[in-house]
Amino acid sequence: MTHSSVHVMCIVGARPNFMKAAPFIEALEGRGWATVTLVHTGQHYSREMSGLFFEALGLRRPQVDLHVGSGSHAEQTGHIMIHLEPLLQLHRPDLVVVFGDVNSTVAAALCASKLGIPVAHVEAGLRSFDRTMPEELNRVVTDHLSQFLFTSERSGRENLIREGLAETQIFFVGNVMVDTLLKHVEQARALETRRTYGLSHQAYGLLTLHRPSNVDDPHTFKEIMTAVKELSVEVPILFPCHVRTRERLAAMPELLEATAGRQGLILLEPLGYLQFLSLMCDAGLVLTDSGGIQEETTVLGVPCVTLRHNTERPVTIEHGTNTLVGTSRTRIVEAGRAVLRRHRPTRRTPDLWDGHAAERIVDVLERHFHAGSFVPECTDSSPMAYSSPCVAPTSNQTSE
Ligand code: UD1
Repeated sequence: MTHSSVHVMCIVGARPNFMKAAPFIEALEGRGWATVTLVHTGQHYSREMSGLFFEALGLRRPQVDLHVGSGSHAEQTGHIMIHLEPLLQLHRPDLVVVFGDVNSTVAAALCASKLGIPVAHVEAGLRSFDRTMPEELNRVVTDHLSQFLFTSERSGRENLIREGLAETQIFFVGNVMVDTLLKHVEQARALETRRTYGLSHQAYGLLTLHRPSNVDDPHTFKEIMTAVKELSVEVPILFPCHVRTRERLAAMPELLEATAGRQGLILLEPLGYLQFLSLMCDAGLVLTDSGGIQEETTVLGVPCVTLRHNTERPVTIEHGTNTLVGTSRTRIVEAGRAVLRRHRPTRRTPDLWDGHAAERIVDVLERHFHAGSFVPECTDSSPMAYSSPCVAPTSNQTSE
């Protein structure tokens, strides 16, 4: 293998991508055999949704920013593909790596596949089985376009096999988001961000809310906010508010009025990675509809009440501290009260959520590039020249 002979293009776009890409890039560059290009699609562009995370994670500035910005799903996905295609044609990377389940993930996977460039999907195989979620469609399509499927929990492999994907493509490597969490958790704890709001250890709740199904539907949004208001009478609740949710709150002033007078609910701007992690570490209760926060609270052992009817991350319920409660006011209030009244649950950290997932991904790639199993085919510049999957079977323990 020639030193620095392999060109890997990592494509990120939205907030949850950044903490997944950071440990992978660090691990890959540490080996010295690959050149990494970081491309930011610009799906998230404001400082609080993007720039703050690059700074906190020590992620270097992307070499390319496609500046696609916001739009409908079709507009956003289409714009990313239109801007990415010439870049991929120009550079012909040996591998495109995509993360998670956002529109940037599927757009990049589709664009690269059509050009015959192999794709690796980090966080493959998660399924909520709810195709009304845009992320579920992104996950399914991305997985079926990818040659390397790196799963974060064991359910991922079962889902992929059920959908007919080959065992030889699937590598159970653990959770890269946890790599980032474990690297930063002590620094975050030391910040004690809760003190900024005059709050004591485990004596407050922390809320995040941004799923379109929760905040775009006025009835559901009202149910959730009414429940939060009730709980906030018993315990102060910090609410770093996603931009989408802030817009919905502004459009429903009656909801704002209903909550504004309550001292217990504290609306905040979106927070940086370390500040939010600090608040999560010390919270007595987390209420969320995020996927990543279900995982992070599992590792931290903080009780998490998930305001959704399903989760694509079942291990957080089986091993972790997560409870699915749906979106009805009564169920949220009951679940929140139950958490506040009982002792912290015992937890078991899911397998391979140990801070070394990125290293395992790089191990797999190193073996395949070292074997030279697919690089030659991929140097052909004609579209669809790459016949997938051309990943050699491996007996490595991380492949299930
Ligand atoms: C996206 C992802 C979602 C992820 C979430 C994390 C998809 C389909 N959805 O949802 O999976 O959990 O990111 O935040 O990819 N906006 C800003 N500044 C920004 C970005 C967005 O103000 O930097 C505003 C715009 O008004 C935009 C809205 O936020 O219309 C929503 O952004 P968008 O990227 O469309 O979706 P998210 O809800 O953030």
